Amino acid sequence: MEKKSQQRELILAFESSCDETSVAVVENGDTILSNVIASQINSQKRFGGVVPEVASRHHVEQVTLCAEEAMTQAGVTYADLTAVAVTYGPGLVGALLIGVSAAKAVAFAHQLPLVPVNHMAGHIYAARLVKPLTYPLLALLVSGGHTEIVYMRAAGEFEIIGDTRDDAAGEAFDKVGRVLNLTYPAGKKIDELAKQGQDTFDFPRAMIKEANYDFSFSGLKSAFINTVHNAEQRGEELSRADLAASFQASVIDVIVTKTMRAVHEYGVKQLVMAGGVAANSGLRARFQQEIAAQTPDVDFVVPPLRLCADNGAMIGAAAHVFYHQGIRADGHLNAKPGLSFDYMTPARQAELVN
Ligand code: KG4
Ligand code: ZN
Repeated sequence: MEKKSQQRELILAFESSCDETSVAVVENGDTILSNVIASQINSQKRFGGVVPEVASRHHVEQVTLCAEEAMTQAGVTYADLTAVAVTYGPGLVGALLIGVSAAKAVAFAHQLPLVPVNHMAGHIYAARLVKPLTYPLLALLVSGGHTEIVYMRAAGEFEIIGDTRDDAAGEAFDKVGRVLNLTYPAGKKIDELAKQGQDTFDFPRAMIKEANYDFSFSGLKSAFINTVHNAEQRGEELSRADLAASFQASVIDVIVTKTMRAVHEYGVKQLVMAGGVAANSGLRARFQQEIAAQTPDVDFVVPPLRLCADNGAMIGAAAHVFYHQGIRADGHLNAKPGLSFDYMTPARQAELVN
């Protein structure tokens, strides 16, 4: 069943953990042959967020079309494939199940190995589509559901050294966006508004001085909401651009300060930033500035915008590593909505799968 002699390693990868259905073909873990993404943003906008039932229905409608399109664009046949990979967690259970079922069906029908992938590992390995990863490295994962600092001593070894105590960074952007009447997801619009404003409100920088790598964004969100509501009650109009700039400055200050402290302490070769919020232009610029000033030998890697958001290619890139570490799933693979990698080695990962 395993095609060991094959030179061209081709992985067909499925991603359906949240609101994008995506299927990609990745060659040798670093080259994207296709990366088809069917976004549901237009229907989620109507509800102001991701409604799990709506997301699942979209995935069902899209997954086969995306897989066929990914194969066509890549110009390969099922017989050419080396393995099939799929995100099995964390994420929305009904959404994950669609990708897992589709991947299992393809693997079974074409007698291919099935490689299970943790969505967050996928976000980190998106950087492998840009350049080789050098260990040890730190990865900052900032998305709608996660704000984590992950230490990687070697390929496939993950240790979460910092996490959010409440809201994830992207969630804070989206909640604050609602108060500003921005459509979901609001991160990109706040980023644009912030460019036109100044940090005039001096919102709190939660946990910035604490001797750990954890984050908390709920206090900032409350301070923001209170500021807007108090002004409304007084009939005052606040500058939306200054509000956005002040909110974003607080998020960036905390994230960059704590991450840079970890970069010093762990003595890493690379800092990888990944996840939807890694698209934030202010965050990128500030990291570039701090790395250049404080640790110019550390290589800062951020995937291009389209690879920061959820996509199948990042799952294919991670699956390449896991495939060579012998991590496999079978027909019993199930979706694991709460899947984490607090401390994960290849051996432990293999144990947790089935
Ligand atoms: O990683 P992702 O695509 O999905 C999850 O796995 O969560 O991240 C989506 C999040 C949303 O909260 C969105 O508002 C945020 O990423 N986001 C941004 C920007 N672009 C997307 N946040 C700040 N600045 C941006 N430019
Ligand atoms: Zn994601």
